Amino acid sequence: MTHKIIIDTDPGIDDAMAILYAALHPDIEIIGMTSVFGNVTSDIAARNAIVLAERAQQAIPVAKGADKPLVQTPNPVSDYVHGVEGFGDMPAQAISAQPVDEPAHEFICRLINENPGEITLCPIGPLTNIALALRHDPSIADKVKDVVIMGGGLDRGNVTDHAEANIWNDPHAADAVFAASWPVTMVGLDVTTQVICHPPDFARIAAASPVLGGFLNEAVQYYFKFYESHYGVLGSQMHDPTAVIAITDPQYFTIENHALEVIVDGARIGQTIRSADPSRPKHKVPMGVDIDGVKQRFLTMIETGF
Ligand code: RIB
Ligand code: CA
Repeated sequence: MTHKIIIDTDPGIDDAMAILYAALHPDIEIIGMTSVFGNVTSDIAARNAIVLAERAQQAIPVAKGADKPLVQTPNPVSDYVHGVEGFGDMPAQAISAQPVDEPAHEFICRLINENPGEITLCPIGPLTNIALALRHDPSIADKVKDVVIMGGGLDRGNVTDHAEANIWNDPHAADAVFAASWPVTMVGLDVTTQVICHPPDFARIAAASPVLGGFLNEAVQYYFKFYESHYGVLGSQMHDPTAVIAITDPQYFTIENHALEVIVDGARIGQTIRSADPSRPKHKVPMGVDIDGVKQRFLTMIETGF
């Protein structure tokens, strides 16, 4: 089965892992990417998405998206996690293509309307563009095949004890996404924090795939330093690639079904919670994961291209 996907992204080191996994996967067609603020500014995110498409030698249109959240004052970009230019210590990378001349949310709506029932929307950054797309054309909720996000967490946070970064960066947008009547799979910290790759794993893919594996191995060194200093773990939590693997390999996940809402103010701002609101649809929430299955799926794809 071919998965036609749109990746909404703030690359970002783990975003790069997700995008290159998707670009290499024989059953995935990335029909477009859209940039959003978060790990970096939306401008840098758009440039970095083009960098990744060009490294993968694929002509993937990239549309620039939101520079700031729907309502709240923007949080600072997380350059202490992903580096100033988004790929660790790497300087800004040259590109030959430019973003398309269409705002991200309109680009998303147009592609979904042109491919009704076929597109999996895969947001792996703050959900601002996705909420704007819903506002621009609410009918996309009935036309999209799936919405598989990296974000949230029912029993944990990372930027605070309660909030995961993508939700924390735009809680109002995330709440609108969970309230809509489309099928959402929330791949959150409940599973992504369990999937950790270590320096030998990235050395392995760099040896097997000098261009793409080598790029990821260079970028991830900065991420390793962050995780070691903050968590005492010399490893990379595989947040964004785990979300894409939930599309291609759902068998690796144990799913619960919950209606979801997001706390949008106060001490727990950005927390995703089970909702008692009967008007909200139930969404899929992976709560269990075959850790080694997901790890090996990612590593083997980068190593071999299948
Ligand atoms: O909390 C992890 C998420 O926030 C990932 O998508 C990472 O890239 C950052 O955007
Ligand atoms: Ca991301």
